[in-house]
Amino acid sequence: MIVAEDLVKEFKVHRRRPGLIGSLGTLFSREHDIVRAVSGVSFRILPGVRAAYIGANGAGKSTTVKMLTGVMNPTSGRCTVAGLEPYRDRRRTAANIGVVFGQRSQLWWDLPVADSFRILRRIHDIPDPVYRRNMALYQELLDLDALGTTPVRQLSLGQRMRAEVAASLLHDPAAVFLDEPTVGLDLVLKEAVRELVNRVNAQLGTTVMLTSHDIGDITSICDQVLVVNHGAVVHQGTVHELLRAADTRAVVFEYQDGPDPHQAIALIEARLPGVTARQSECRRIIVDYPTGRLSARQVMAFLLEHFDLTDCVAPEPDLETVLRRIYTRRAEPREVPV
Ligand SMILES: Nc1ncnc2c1ncn2[C@@H]1O[C@H](COP(=O)(O)OP(=O)(O)OP(=O)(O)O)[C@@H](O)[C@H]1O
Ligand SMILES: [Mg+2]
Repeated sequence: MIVAEDLVKEFKVHRRRPGLIGSLGTLFSREHDIVRAVSGVSFRILPGVRAAYIGANGAGKSTTVKMLTGVMNPTSGRCTVAGLEPYRDRRRTAANIGVVFGQRSQLWWDLPVADSFRILRRIHDIPDPVYRRNMALYQELLDLDALGTTPVRQLSLGQRMRAEVAASLLHDPAAVFLDEPTVGLDLVLKEAVRELVNRVNAQLGTTVMLTSHDIGDITSICDQVLVVNHGAVVHQGTVHELLRAADTRAVVFEYQDGPDPHQAIALIEARLPGVTARQSECRRIIVDYPTGRLSARQVMAFLLEHFDLTDCVAPEPDLETVLRRIYTRRAEPREVPV
């Protein structure tokens, strides 16, 4: 359904010079740098899949989504959505897809939400039963009527986002691109948006591509995760596979008496190769160890020998920790080719 082949996007940015005079000079200068926002991204999202497209700030997610939705041309490479090249065939692509950019509105700024929906109904030529079915669903989950006749520009961020997500799905698109759709939403509304996306996916088989920094969005919506780092995809698979691929695991322990936590951390890091330790609470310490070099058993044996333990557990790796480690990796060639 959504295919990217060696997708590259470069931006030309004027080279800035320091100071006011430098800034003015920039206006007339022809010097520029090339920023490679997306550098050779390839992936394939099958119909009906709910894929999370995640990565650190600036990793190139929104830029990829812009190319997939026809907002921008790729510098090189190719992408298709439902067989169409979005930037070549914007009109037909628009009929197939829904888009939410959390940072930018798709609605008519001066009109109340209800009017925007009526316009969208005309634009997409949505049949009556479909329109009524969808509006009833949005009313049930998102309480859209409560937005009343207030123009979009006066809505709170959370109120607007409810309307944005609903608007993107109104015409039963085959694929929906949600770029940070829950940004600014409270917990209850986040749940409602997740439920809406899941229900639409279950009932209509809508393909979902979602970017989010919210772990809850990823775990409650997505069955696949694509991780992008420094402009390239470094992992595609299920959340479970991503967790299993973790090259670092943790052992958490608590102890009494003996060295203070700073000394304890120094001892652990000095004696166990490749290990980092940090204090979580007073005498509770988290030890991160590389799975390639040590086992939980070895780490625990060391701790038993050197500390008077009152608790010791080896928790399952959690998504947040695994992602944090991937995001903090330096730019390197693609580690896991997709
Ligand atoms: N129009 C532009 N001109 C120049 N550089 C740009 C432009 N758009 C994006 N970039 C740069 O491209 C890189 C990727 O940006 P992008 O918005 O795709 O990141 P992102 O992964 O969506 O980040 P975030 O999680 O913060 O939304 C960044 O370094 C950004 O500064
Ligand atoms: Mg973004």
